[in-house]
Amino acid sequence: MSEGEFRQDWSAYAPAEHAVWRSLFHRQEEVLRGRACGEFLDGLEGLGVAADGIPDFRRLNETLGAATGWGIVAVPGLVPDDVFFAHLASRRFPSTCFIRRADQLDYLQEPDVFHDIFGHVPMLMNPVFADYMQAYGQGGLKALGLGSLHHLARLYWYTVEFGLIRTPAGPRIYGSGIVSSKGESIYSLESAAPNRLGFDLLRVMRTRYRIDDYQTTYFVIDDFAQLFAATRPDFTPYYQALRALSDLAPETVLDSDLILHRGEAMAAAHTAASAGGTSAAKKIGP
Ligand code: PHE
Ligand code: FE
Repeated sequence: MSEGEFRQDWSAYAPAEHAVWRSLFHRQEEVLRGRACGEFLDGLEGLGVAADGIPDFRRLNETLGAATGWGIVAVPGLVPDDVFFAHLASRRFPSTCFIRRADQLDYLQEPDVFHDIFGHVPMLMNPVFADYMQAYGQGGLKALGLGSLHHLARLYWYTVEFGLIRTPAGPRIYGSGIVSSKGESIYSLESAAPNRLGFDLLRVMRTRYRIDDYQTTYFVIDDFAQLFAATRPDFTPYYQALRALSDLAPETVLDSDLILHRGEAMAAAHTAASAGGTSAAKKIGP
């Protein structure tokens, strides 16, 4: 074992900890039917090893490795940005090992093993998304060198963690932060409070986010091809352009936004802030 290496001690989990996993797993399985996108649900099904209790990363890695060549590495908690990106760039996803307590099923601000594994690994079973995550890691190392990490991090937040995708049946969830939360799985799709806006790369990278509550804005991609096409170019000129643009508050709606749903919680504030202006907002399907 190399210096500093951290491992999941799978045999040390208590029965009560496996029971917390099973409660979370079964209720999310239920809530995500008809809410998560097909890519997520297919990935989850492919991860049969995860239904019975906190997965043993060694077994999980056999399944995940065979599907896309990704692997899970255990970490004690948040890792430094350069370490995180280097893992992703090598198709390794860092996961915490601890699980929340039974009285924290509904919301936890920091990632635990349920968020990291149930939330992220199903999408890593998808070959196209698996490539996106690796490219993101490579882009992260570059952004660090360019001093633009704060801009790139928002892309991760609003896609990998809190992304929605349009389908013929209506918006569906693919973001890991949503799929690992029962409340936000329902809120993100069904609440009238948050904005649901069409994905726009530079717009997303200007938008600050909140880490302490449900999101006030969700960005909705048309499909994964759109997301990958938008993120394929070299971001260096984008970062340059972003330096001249102001940050946007999480609840901001711009006249140039494609508005799928204007959040009711924000409508009053927006009207006050832009009094006298006319809104060119388009209300469109689904
Ligand atoms: N193309 C981006 C860059 O040059 C890297 C990237 C790929 C970022 C995919 C996010 C997602 O920085
Ligand atoms: Fe996460």
